[in-house]
Amino acid sequence: MTDAVLASDATTIGSADAAWWRQAAVYQIYPRSFADANGDGLGDIRGVVDKADYLAELGIDAVWLSPFYPSELADGGYDVADYRDVDPRLGTLSDFDDMIAALHGRGIRVIVDIVPNHSSNRHALFQAALAAGKGSPERDRYIFRDGLGENGERPPADWQSVFGGPAWEPVGDGQWYFHHFATEQPDFNWDNPDVHAEFLETLRFWSDRGVDGFRIDVAHALAKDLPEVLPSQAELDAMDTTTGRHPLFDRDEVHEIYREWRRVFDEYDPPRIAVAEAWVATPERRARYATAEGLGQAFNFDLLEADFDAAQFRHIVTVNLAQSAATGSSSTWVLSNHDVVRHATRYGLAPRDGSTAKQGSAWIIAGAPADQVDLARGGRRALAASLFLLGLPGSAYLYQGEELGLHEVGDIAPEDRQDPAFFRGADPERDGLGRDGCRVPLPWERGGSSYGFGAAGAHLPQPAWFARYTVEEEAADPASSLSVYRHALALRRALQTAETLEWIETGRDDVLRFARPNGWQVVTNFGEEPFPLEPGATVVLGALEGGAVAGESTVWLRD
Ligand code: NOJ
Repeated sequence: MTDAVLASDATTIGSADAAWWRQAAVYQIYPRSFADANGDGLGDIRGVVDKADYLAELGIDAVWLSPFYPSELADGGYDVADYRDVDPRLGTLSDFDDMIAALHGRGIRVIVDIVPNHSSNRHALFQAALAAGKGSPERDRYIFRDGLGENGERPPADWQSVFGGPAWEPVGDGQWYFHHFATEQPDFNWDNPDVHAEFLETLRFWSDRGVDGFRIDVAHALAKDLPEVLPSQAELDAMDTTTGRHPLFDRDEVHEIYREWRRVFDEYDPPRIAVAEAWVATPERRARYATAEGLGQAFNFDLLEADFDAAQFRHIVTVNLAQSAATGSSSTWVLSNHDVVRHATRYGLAPRDGSTAKQGSAWIIAGAPADQVDLARGGRRALAASLFLLGLPGSAYLYQGEELGLHEVGDIAPEDRQDPAFFRGADPERDGLGRDGCRVPLPWERGGSSYGFGAAGAHLPQPAWFARYTVEEEAADPASSLSVYRHALALRRALQTAETLEWIETGRDDVLRFARPNGWQVVTNFGEEPFPLEPGATVVLGALEGGAVAGESTVWLRD
């Protein structure tokens, strides 16, 4: 018995070329940890140019660059001091133009990260707000409130920031500003037209430079409605986040901002694309960000939050394909990014509270102490899950290093850590070791300084076992994770036709099998028992063992 899942026609937005994003393989580069061309210990834009052939050979369709803008690095670059420039430590605008040319020349599109919920406290607009004082138009661009008490010496509310510690910071004149994240990241006031103008200019600036699209940071938090008397943190926590009327998150009017942005995206040919990072309560709420009048696509983190489990995977795929079909978007799939423990490591952890994945909050998954990980099993499962994901209709978002089967670095010493979530005393049960472990600079070569990352070493320490995961090592081994990713990404181009799949019942709870309309099939064995295939099946990716799909592995077949 089969049940069909129908996604949308592939032509909802614009022409055929304009629809490139619908089934793209997008590779996330965390620039400071990718490749360091100028040898100062930090990855840079020239490093991306140097690795353009590597990216082309990998077979991805687009690159998403995490922030490369001037920043004090209070939050790994998500504290932006100037939205329309390159951090001098990472290069210049001219380097950026060269990078666009190098990637476009190889058929790779470029998506950049836009951080509109907050700026850095070093941003000129925030510095102007501090200088101009209470009640000024400059202060109105951010969220300032008078403190409580006779001289405003107490915070306006007891709110906690996402990274731990208070969310209101005093500025010395009785006023306080609100920051969802680190103290150095004041939230913008999106009721102020100047803020709209600032970001429209930024979107045009990068679009004019040839950028193909944008990843929108914390897209669900921009619109806020703070009453005169602020609720307490406990009251906030008790509020429903599914109504569109929560004071801080996922408010319905946030979509007015994205409709305004869409008009800018559509000024370009092909229209610029966008993908929302929106941690919202339900797939239905998420779909609102992914409409043709809005951002067009939204990250779906459901697989990232799931266990390596057939039933969970099937349910998530079915629900999300149906959801995209209903809104005309295409589905997105993610297993790893710069905020979570790498999936090779998650899948090697012993279950905690019955789950290996959701070890805490939705968006920072707890760090993974190195001695608690079954590396081999995690690696096996990660490859199986990645090949399952790459066979799905929709866009696959990959995170640098996952193609190498790279593990989280779990044993970074406290004095070497950088993530504000680690230092601001967030709940250790929730935030664990923070996010540095997935941001350690990539290993390119077997030897040399910092495994080929750069001449001055790496800004986060690389463990000795990185030697086993280098590009040099894996490129020479046809059975390596890198070689399998390359093969899968090359085949994927032929596989991606209509955005549909059909489940084929396997008679096993721990084995999933689906067919794409053009005769390709994906079989993933989530269990340990081999799954025998019918004789004569044509395997195009992965290998059978004695005619069976081995435990914790995926094969691709075709008619
Ligand atoms: C989400 C980003 O992915 C994360 O790295 C960052 O810390 C927060 N947004 C704040 O910008």
